[in-house]
Amino acid sequence: MSHRSGRHFLQIPGPTNVPDRILRAIERPTIDHRGPEFGALGREILAGLKEIFRTAGPVVIYPASGTGAWEAALVNTLSPGDRVLMFETGQFATLWRRLAERLGLEVEFVAGDWRRGVDPEAVEAKLSEDRDHAVKAVCVVHNETSTGVTSRVAEVRAAIDRAKHPALFFVDTISSLASIDYRHDEWGVDVTVAGSQKGLMLPPGLSFNAISDKALTAAESARLARSYWAWDEMLKANAKGYFPYTPATNLLYGLREAIDMLLEEGLDQVFARHARLAEATRRAVRAWGLEILCVDPREYSNSLTAVLMPAGHDADAFRATVLERFDMSLGNGLGKVQGKVFRIGHLGDFNDLMLSGTLAGVEMGLAAAGVPHRRGGLQAAVDYLAGVSGEAAGADLRNAKSG
Ligand SMILES: Cc1ncc(COP(=O)(O)O)c(C=O)c1O
Repeated sequence: MSHRSGRHFLQIPGPTNVPDRILRAIERPTIDHRGPEFGALGREILAGLKEIFRTAGPVVIYPASGTGAWEAALVNTLSPGDRVLMFETGQFATLWRRLAERLGLEVEFVAGDWRRGVDPEAVEAKLSEDRDHAVKAVCVVHNETSTGVTSRVAEVRAAIDRAKHPALFFVDTISSLASIDYRHDEWGVDVTVAGSQKGLMLPPGLSFNAISDKALTAAESARLARSYWAWDEMLKANAKGYFPYTPATNLLYGLREAIDMLLEEGLDQVFARHARLAEATRRAVRAWGLEILCVDPREYSNSLTAVLMPAGHDADAFRATVLERFDMSLGNGLGKVQGKVFRIGHLGDFNDLMLSGTLAGVEMGLAAAGVPHRRGGLQAAVDYLAGVSGEAAGADLRNAKSG
């Protein structure tokens, strides 16, 4: 491989571009994880994370990918043979289901077409039918990274409440946390699962569980085997800022920096920035005459857009052209939609000109790969970005919330 000048465009929907500030923070010498300096680092991070998850409760950090945090949520709260309700929103929901079944849980998997999020009415109907309360947990992927569809978590919570059902509520926010509005406490979530490599702008390698009091109580009687993932020892050590085993110290330096950056910008502004860049992306896709996989505008993802290829054209061949010609990685189609969609990641440390470069790469790639499309997608996005400033988008979002 010869040297390629300029920055690679990493426009997969995670891992995302790691900003220089975070890279520099990670690069410091590793310290004694049982010394006083580490305790202060741990306490600072564990407090800051509460703001990011919008919770007053504990958030635990695992040196693991997101899959580990999925497992942790289940093994800490459930027992062999427990029933859980899951929804086929896409590849990640499908993988979480497989993990749950391997652990010995009995999963009811509500079928879906990979173009919509979880239907709150289906949640209410399923739970209302369950008069004996056999279902112990409802698991939802907030933002399906394989499809670019965001489920309406607050509405799912309201549906659980309407059914007056005591099930625990678990939400995977791996590709939504710190990109799309999310509120652990307000939305009555019992365990929020998250990862480092997307909205948090860090390299892969950390994952999280934000835990409600109800989940902590469930953990006291849950019987699935657990050791590495056990919350009790983790929380005991975390009380003083430490970990029960060797933590990923340098990634934690990065996490401290990421929390600072997100709070400096302000979470609401972070969400508004993502919403605006996502809208610009969708305008580009429509102008190209291509189809967005997500069919319900209420569920458009603000962290990525999955685009359907015209019939007879292979998404992976197109992606290969973009990589070779323009040094940009786009997300591939996963599982059922492999070869049929490509995904544009627009989350994390990302701004107007990075998006413009990304969309220019897609538009040039469509032409170079001979994919039928109309020109003008980039222009449509740029016109939108020029007309709506980031500040105005943030103010709009705040007004919409208070109004
Ligand atoms: C929504 C979602 N859930 C779970 C995962 C699995 O996380 P990991 O690959 O970090 O184990 C991913 C990974 O991209 C994801 O996007």
